[in-house]
Amino acid sequence: MVDTMSWKDGTLIILDQTALPSAVEFITCTNYQRVCTAVKRLEVRGAPALGAAAGFAMLLAYKELVHTTQDILTVYAKAKEEIAQARPTAVNLSWGANLMYKAATSMASTGKDLNAIYTSLEKLAMEIYTEDIRINKKMGEYGAEILPASSIILTHCNAGALATCGWGTALGVIRSGFAQGKVKMVYADETRPLLQGARLTAWELNEDHIPVTLITDNMAATTMAHKHVNIVITGADRIAANGDAANKIGTYGVALIAKALQIPFYIAAPASTFDFKLTSGEQIPIEERAPQEVRQIKTVPIAPPNIPVFNPAFDVTPAGLISGIITEYGVLRPPYKESINKLHAQVLKEDKYTWKV
Ligand code: MRU
Repeated sequence: MVDTMSWKDGTLIILDQTALPSAVEFITCTNYQRVCTAVKRLEVRGAPALGAAAGFAMLLAYKELVHTTQDILTVYAKAKEEIAQARPTAVNLSWGANLMYKAATSMASTGKDLNAIYTSLEKLAMEIYTEDIRINKKMGEYGAEILPASSIILTHCNAGALATCGWGTALGVIRSGFAQGKVKMVYADETRPLLQGARLTAWELNEDHIPVTLITDNMAATTMAHKHVNIVITGADRIAANGDAANKIGTYGVALIAKALQIPFYIAAPASTFDFKLTSGEQIPIEERAPQEVRQIKTVPIAPPNIPVFNPAFDVTPAGLISGIITEYGVLRPPYKESINKLHAQVLKEDKYTWKV
């Protein structure tokens, strides 16, 4: 698989996901503002990839601080807000930005100089990146255990290597299961309006020779009922402390169908996708995107030019529809208030990023 992003000579190279599958092109980001633009345009997308991109964006922002005449930490805090708010739903974005900011402020308070802090921040940004791959592989191991021996899986959007720093969350589970001979077929919802399922998931699985069949979103119910789908796995962008989970628009519908057909519905997401301070999914901010995304496919109009459009990019699947949440710490089960609370305690205890050294 081609790398979603890489850090080279003080610049962030991003795979342009808007060009896939027609072309494999890269964008060079030399400042954090360009990373924010890439996030808004979905050139880089998917919750864990956004977390890592936020880390590198904060590193680029720190580099620019050498030129500031104002208070360094005030300017850095502004950059953090800009990065965290480039897209509102995936909590990983603010998670990555906050981790970097916390590290910088705490090092500054010990009197470390700018260059030394930059070196430590570079280590931390790289650690967020490499740790994400390790986390995905761990999720893959736990997830593969719960896959039926002959899995026929339906997935929505793209929660793959492209949406992370490598391997993937939902597609990571599928990759690990495939390596164990457990995956017979993956049905990929095309995922309107921006077609992450068709453009990215179908491409990614095909590249890895994992059997995949593309369907349009309105074929999900009939596919699940008549093609022996025995498990649904998706990713998530933000999970509240009660287990309600925001993911790409259409996920909620898929979860309702799964419930009606008694097919287990799983979410695969790292601890960084949990927003432990939110008590329910109602508090998750849902991004609304431009009407052109619905009125057009790429640049081709498919609706009257000024027709009113409602374009929420995500929906929230209530915890009651979720059979389990696959994390790098194991598979969480209902009651989620309890299992997520335990996860939170474990995360706080671990405090694993090593930037302090
Ligand atoms: O708008 P996108 O493409 O960023 O939406 C991505 C999703 O909804 C993914 O399913 C989610 O981020 C999980 S990625 C491992």
